[in-house]
Amino acid sequence: MKKLIFVTGASSGIGRALSIKFANSGWKVLASARRLDLLKKLTKESENLNTITPIKMDISNRKTVSSQINKTIKKYGIPDIVILNAGTNNPNSKYIFSLEETEQIFKINFFGTLNCLHALLPFLKKKNNSQVIFMSSVAGYRGLPYAAAYCSSKSAITTFAESIYNQCKNLGIAIRVINPGFVKTPLTDKNKFKMPMIIPVEKAADIMYKKIIFSKKFEINCPWLFCFIMKILRLLPNSLYLSLTQLLIKRL
Ligand SMILES: NC(=O)c1ccc[n+]([C@@H]2O[C@H](COP(=O)([O-])OP(=O)(O)OC[C@H]3O[C@@H](n4cnc5c(N)ncnc54)[C@H](OP(=O)(O)O)[C@@H]3O)[C@@H](O)[C@H]2O)c1
Repeated sequence: MKKLIFVTGASSGIGRALSIKFANSGWKVLASARRLDLLKKLTKESENLNTITPIKMDISNRKTVSSQINKTIKKYGIPDIVILNAGTNNPNSKYIFSLEETEQIFKINFFGTLNCLHALLPFLKKKNNSQVIFMSSVAGYRGLPYAAAYCSSKSAITTFAESIYNQCKNLGIAIRVINPGFVKTPLTDKNKFKMPMIIPVEKAADIMYKKIIFSKKFEINCPWLFCFIMKILRLLPNSLYLSLTQLLIKRL
């Protein structure tokens, strides 16, 4: 029987590319997002027919998420892998921070992701052998200027994943986090600065697919070199790191 994967944010970018990659590798894909028209187009992208099923779902609406996930699992079964990928950013904000924007970003990136996990957990506990993969970001390693809401929402997701790791492991659920660097997608197309070491989305999906299937590590990085540099920045003392980000502000 085909293995089953559930992907949120499958209508564009990384989620879309991962859905195609898994479908072409013989998986049955439950592909969710708000834009059903794009999901319907996605179903035709796979080399294997009828392997991608579109699921219209706004992750920020807890009630819809709960009923949609219940319906989907009753119809298609409990997924072997869940990728909680849907996310958003508003990179060109001119404010130090806007409360409304920050709330909106957390509503999707953090609470939206948790809405999905909350609805899925009772089923995954019964399965006793599954993976839940959070799409976080190296932007969550440390604060970056002009990205307070996005960085903090991703830090929150990574910390949340670390916190539940062992409790979930004891229930047969492997918790993992993907921390990508820059990947060319509609989300990064909004950035007005030059993005170092940016990679095409298909390449990112290939790397992520291999690491999801062939490795068991908690953290998945791609591209590794950029993520390695970001990890070094994470180790710098605050005074040095904050001086470097001051330079960054002057260049933006
Ligand atoms: N691209 C990068 O360089 C990069 C780097 C690090 C991390 N990430 C993370 O990777 C994930 C995917 O980003 P991407 O670059 O592929 O961006 P993208 O092309 O803009 O895709 C975002 C996806 O999230 C979905 N989404 C947004 N809000 C949603 C909501 N309320 N309910 C359901 N789905 C929603 C969108 O679908 P609908 O609009 O159809 O709902 C879309 O499919 C995000 O979590 C992002 O933070 C990206």
